Amino acid sequence: MLRSKIVSTGMYVPPQIIKNDDLAKMMDTSDEWIRQRTGIEQRHWAADDTSTSDLAYEAALVALKNANMDKSEIDMLIVATLSPDHEFPGTACFLQKKLGVPGIPALDVRQQCTGFIYAMSIADQFIRTGMYQKILVVGAELQSKGLEKNDQGRDVAVLFGDGAGAVVMCATEVKDVKTDSHVLSTHLYADGTFAEELWVAAPGSGNSSDRIGTKEIEDKLHFPQMNGKTVFLNAVKRMPEALQAAFKQNELSIEDIDLFIFHQANLRINDMIAKQFNIPEHKVFNTIQKFANTTAATIPIGLDEAVRAGKLKKGMLVASAAFGSGFTWGSAVYRF
Ligand code: UT7
Repeated sequence: MLRSKIVSTGMYVPPQIIKNDDLAKMMDTSDEWIRQRTGIEQRHWAADDTSTSDLAYEAALVALKNANMDKSEIDMLIVATLSPDHEFPGTACFLQKKLGVPGIPALDVRQQCTGFIYAMSIADQFIRTGMYQKILVVGAELQSKGLEKNDQGRDVAVLFGDGAGAVVMCATEVKDVKTDSHVLSTHLYADGTFAEELWVAAPGSGNSSDRIGTKEIEDKLHFPQMNGKTVFLNAVKRMPEALQAAFKQNELSIEDIDLFIFHQANLRINDMIAKQFNIPEHKVFNTIQKFANTTAATIPIGLDEAVRAGKLKKGMLVASAAFGSGFTWGSAVYRF
């Protein structure tokens, strides 16, 4: 049975660490508020001369090295990001240029916090059909340049960080579904009814003129706007639903899963999901404390951190779920 599997992981965060107390110097917030409401203690912010594809490039190099693979062996690139280098072309093309691998397809996925699950699912489908054998899947975000770093933007600005994570996914012939490493399932969902609950309105053709002009900038439409409570309430409903769909399809129960690597939007969201399913604490791997919400990068960063922490080992069964802007949400279950 032809399936895909994750053969390696990699991650990169820019060196500059911004503590909650550093944010309190820029806006009316506090370390106490941020920790209590989100679990975040710090985040990394990139330097001015850095772009999203730079972060993606560094993470990709680590994943390729860990796979003992030359970049020339990769036959497709997928980059999930909501913070692209430029409006167009896609960030995957800029990453391709940096990697020096012209000719192979380079695809951007714009599914925000669920971006990595969507990207993984796309890679899995291409591999299952036999079209490609080795796909580099990257989640990368440079959020700090797009945040409103003052009192008005504090509800969003404190949540996000910069970083990238990458995996190499390869074709594998699965003989024993119970033990062989492979992606068992991905489940993807979206509901555009909620598109404006968490969004960046400009630039874009949905604006009256110029995609972005003085009016859009005055109205701060180029900064993310979020209805935090609606996002929270939907996240704690939709992520469990996506996990349930995966468990049902694979005839699994919570006990079968060795490690849960969820999207990192808010520690309280992940704690509520863990409580709902009675998941023991040691089975949930969170990184939001160190990196905040790196959107499409949270899951591949979590994978790489878990490997290096000795928490994720070959043969373990992993469940991931994410929820975010769109709304989009989804799950993936894979034997590492
Ligand atoms: O990755 C997917 C996308 N994002 C999410 O999943 C985020 C989901 N939502 C959340 O995580 C939470 O809604 C937040 C962390 C964003 C906010 O937490 P909350 O408990 O829902 O707080 P709130 O929005 O109800 O605000 C409570 C208070 C308000 O003051 P008043 O009206 O009670 O006086 C806010 O103005 O906290 C105030 N506040 C802040 N105070 C200090 C809002 N942001 C801040 C801040 N620092 N950064």
